Amino acid sequence: MIDSFGRNINYLRVSVTKRCNLNCTYCGAECEKDSELSAEETEKLVRAFAKLGITKVRLTGGEPLLRSDICEIAGRIGRIYGIKKLAITTNGVLLSKYAERLKEAGVNAVNISLDTTDKEQYKKITGFDLLDKVYEGIDEAERVGLSPIRLNAVLIRGENDDQAEKLINIAKDRKIDVRFIELMPFSDEGENESLVVKGEEILKAFPFLKEYEGKGKSDFEKSVAKYYSAENFKGRIGFITPVSDKFCSECNRIRLLSDGKIRPCLGNSEVFDLMPYIDDEELLLKKAKEAILAKPTEHKFSCSYGHSHGLNKIGG
Ligand code: 5AD
Repeated sequence: MIDSFGRNINYLRVSVTKRCNLNCTYCGAECEKDSELSAEETEKLVRAFAKLGITKVRLTGGEPLLRSDICEIAGRIGRIYGIKKLAITTNGVLLSKYAERLKEAGVNAVNISLDTTDKEQYKKITGFDLLDKVYEGIDEAERVGLSPIRLNAVLIRGENDDQAEKLINIAKDRKIDVRFIELMPFSDEGENESLVVKGEEILKAFPFLKEYEGKGKSDFEKSVAKYYSAENFKGRIGFITPVSDKFCSECNRIRLLSDGKIRPCLGNSEVFDLMPYIDDEELLLKKAKEAILAKPTEHKFSCSYGHSHGLNKIGG
């Protein structure tokens, strides 16, 4: 449906848990065991949004693969009339175990967080020595045919900003998109704006990257990322620049949190609790509509430098 500012809201991000099996320095998450919607409740809420024009759903968290019923959740959402694309964002640690079943359940695409190719750095950033498990997950996602596969990297100055080239090279050799996300202010570390490696800095360092002209402008691929390609590269390089370049007028998404609340904007803490209406279809639709109409014109990270949110609570 069209929101108050003329944007067509057709993309719902569904956080299925606040829990995570990593502890990334920039995420600001405390591993919380909290009440989580059941697969059935999640389906009911997504069904309401599908009636309002949501066609694409992304499962996120926390780490969504920590839900032992993640394939059931995916299957239920995948079968909802109107949902044409189902994707998942994961840190990849458990992906080798789930990739095949996710694909069978109807998941098309996967985004995997990978900030470094260096084992020591990985351990320092995430708190765990699990880089090899992530690589296994990426291989398995490729093998079972999840597509597209995208790697998300957050570069932090002085920590892993030496990794741009190694990460870019993954897209050279494999049909995998590598995307650089600017560090957002969600943790003590994220609050330090000087640690943000801007998209344009990376682009400058790799002048062979040319703006991507091909497919990618369709409604489904419509993305907040700006894509670049290079000759002989199998994958693309993307930049997500929430700090240096707001893309709010293009934003087509809203978020369902793991406790049933809707958060219309990542950069704004306002939420709408839909759980009281879950068994009253008419009222649920009305309240879901209100949540979409409350989506603000733009996010205000500039004010958030200084206030931590924790991305696990919001749904990455
Ligand atoms: N800034 C930018 N990206 C972040 N992510 C988590 N925390 C931050 C942050 N502070 C990323 C993760 C994941 C994606 C969903 O969000 O790396 O890839």
